[in-house]
Amino acid sequence: MSAVVQVKGLVKAHGARAVLRGVDAEVSAGETIALVGPSGGGKSTFLRCLNGLNSFDSGSLEIAGIPIQPQTPPDSAALLPLRARVGMVFQGFHLFPHLSVLENVMLAPVQVRRDAPASAEARARSLLERVGLGDRCGARPALLSGGQQQRVAIARALAMQPEVLLLDEPTSALDPQMRGEVLAVLRDLARSGKTTMLVVTHEMAFARGVASRIWVFDEGKIVEDGPPDQVCDHPRSERARAFFQSAT
Ligand SMILES: Nc1ncnc2c1ncn2[C@@H]1O[C@H](COP(=O)(O)OP(=O)(O)OP(=O)(O)O)[C@@H](O)[C@H]1O
Ligand SMILES: [Mg+2]
Repeated sequence: MSAVVQVKGLVKAHGARAVLRGVDAEVSAGETIALVGPSGGGKSTFLRCLNGLNSFDSGSLEIAGIPIQPQTPPDSAALLPLRARVGMVFQGFHLFPHLSVLENVMLAPVQVRRDAPASAEARARSLLERVGLGDRCGARPALLSGGQQQRVAIARALAMQPEVLLLDEPTSALDPQMRGEVLAVLRDLARSGKTTMLVVTHEMAFARGVASRIWVFDEGKIVEDGPPDQVCDHPRSERARAFFQSAT
């Protein structure tokens, strides 16, 4: 099967600071990858490079069949196809406060993809149903809990039917119960195998139970890449061992 994400020798500096120091990675369709590792290791920067929110300095990157060249600015027209095929969910939910939940989810399909409003609405309703919010379509985001807002953000990303969904700490702004609600939605998504997902997370139980592979990022490199049991229980690298010791 062809790779949905293919990264070779990715290098990225912020000023004088080397943030990604040669990352090689490949993801097949339907995989769920959990990105873990110490703070500052480069996880967020890597996800942002994958959808062109950060340019990179050298190396090669292809995602959902779209190559991204080094030095491509985030507003480049070359990234427009990628915006339609790669979805992103952040720690903060970034919903539009003046729109209803339903309108938030319909917005991109109607405005960007020019879907007919009626079909966009039907799809938005079924996605909101799927994330357990079918009865909150008319509400403004401010009336929802954090966990509910994050589930709306996930539905909104899915509304574009992305080939790849990137999530950067989607539960870390939430209290434990709401975290569980959002993780349950992600678990369902992962099991369906329809969307390839890369999730930065500190939830090791989730990573272990749901991910097909775990990547440990440290100092700008993937220092460990493998199935959860192997990575968590028998890490090969000293850096990964140190991370799991400090994380438990
Ligand atoms: N816009 C920026 N300008 C300068 N340095 C940055 C910028 N963004 C990130 N960095 C630096 O790049 C390094 C990697 O940051 P990144 O946010 O990718 O780490 P992370 O693994 O996501 O960490 P965390 O787990 O804390 O979110 C850090 O040293 C950070 O200070
Ligand atoms: Mg981060």
